[in-house]
Amino acid sequence: MPLPKAELHLHIEGTLEPELAFALAARNGVTLPYADTEELRRAYAFTDLQSFLDLYYALMAVLRTEEDFAELAEAYLARAAAQGVRHAEIFFDPQAHTARGVPLAVVVDGLGRALDRGEERHGVSTRLIMCFLRDESAESALETFEAARPWFGGRITGIGLDSAEVGHPPAKFREVYRRAAEAGLHRVAHAGEEGPAAYITEALDVLGVERIDHGLRCLEDPALVERLVRERIPLTLCPLSNVRLRCVDTLADHPLPAILDAGLLATVNSDDPAYFGGYAGDNFDALAEALGLDDETLRLLAANSFQASFLPEERRAALLAEVAAYEFAPRAAVRA
Ligand code: HPA
Ligand code: ZN
Repeated sequence: MPLPKAELHLHIEGTLEPELAFALAARNGVTLPYADTEELRRAYAFTDLQSFLDLYYALMAVLRTEEDFAELAEAYLARAAAQGVRHAEIFFDPQAHTARGVPLAVVVDGLGRALDRGEERHGVSTRLIMCFLRDESAESALETFEAARPWFGGRITGIGLDSAEVGHPPAKFREVYRRAAEAGLHRVAHAGEEGPAAYITEALDVLGVERIDHGLRCLEDPALVERLVRERIPLTLCPLSNVRLRCVDTLADHPLPAILDAGLLATVNSDDPAYFGGYAGDNFDALAEALGLDDETLRLLAANSFQASFLPEERRAALLAEVAAYEFAPRAAVRA
């Protein structure tokens, strides 16, 4: 049985595996500019965030109907559950779909159809967090926010901020975050992935976020690190993503040890698992291997994931108790 964990940084569109992309393309009469799944996989050689985003948005063309979104979410839940995920706070990018003429209701109701059965079928509770594309205008974010009101407090429980970071500081989205707070929604934002530590500070001060997605570059500002520790602001780290998008050179160079040593509330997540080579459990395993993490560090990371979640107290406590009682399988002896 895998270590129980929550996944707090997962873009549902980033779980679109090549096989499902081709199946949906065929069903919807969409022609992909790749001969087959192998050729598509060869395109996953990213040099930075933008090179990934270009392909990520292009492949979304295959997602058109409620059934497509339901299949996408169902496939994610099955894979996540197999790797010990018991709770997932899932991002989606409404503007990337409405801009292609797919109505918001198709997206939210399609995802919802799978997520509503997630606990019963897979033992995975879920929340949906809608993200605004920071390289689109503040007006577009506001329009999207207003269009989503019917699902607030129901299927949609929070807002986030993603896409191309540099040159799009958090303060651009001040008003939509103000309205989200007023509507009682949770608030998170990507910051400090490619952008500077100052964007993390701005996301806290101007947007009032409760968690920072990525946040790697906080380490460049010791006063900010102190503040994040003091205020118990979680970071949702995504190690395999960081390597694939060249935010760190190799997993062995990942700053997780420094982040934990500083006393930060770090969590480990998969970001866009179909593109970056692994789901939540794969990220735990790869980090453990590359950094030589011991079982108690993995237990701490799993506990952090539930502490940092937006779960109600009762389920949080139950899942934390499972983490505390978890018995790790003995690892294969290291050969001398
Ligand atoms: N960063 C920014 N935007 C994104 C990401 C990411 O890692 N994944 C999907 N959209
Ligand atoms: Zn992300």
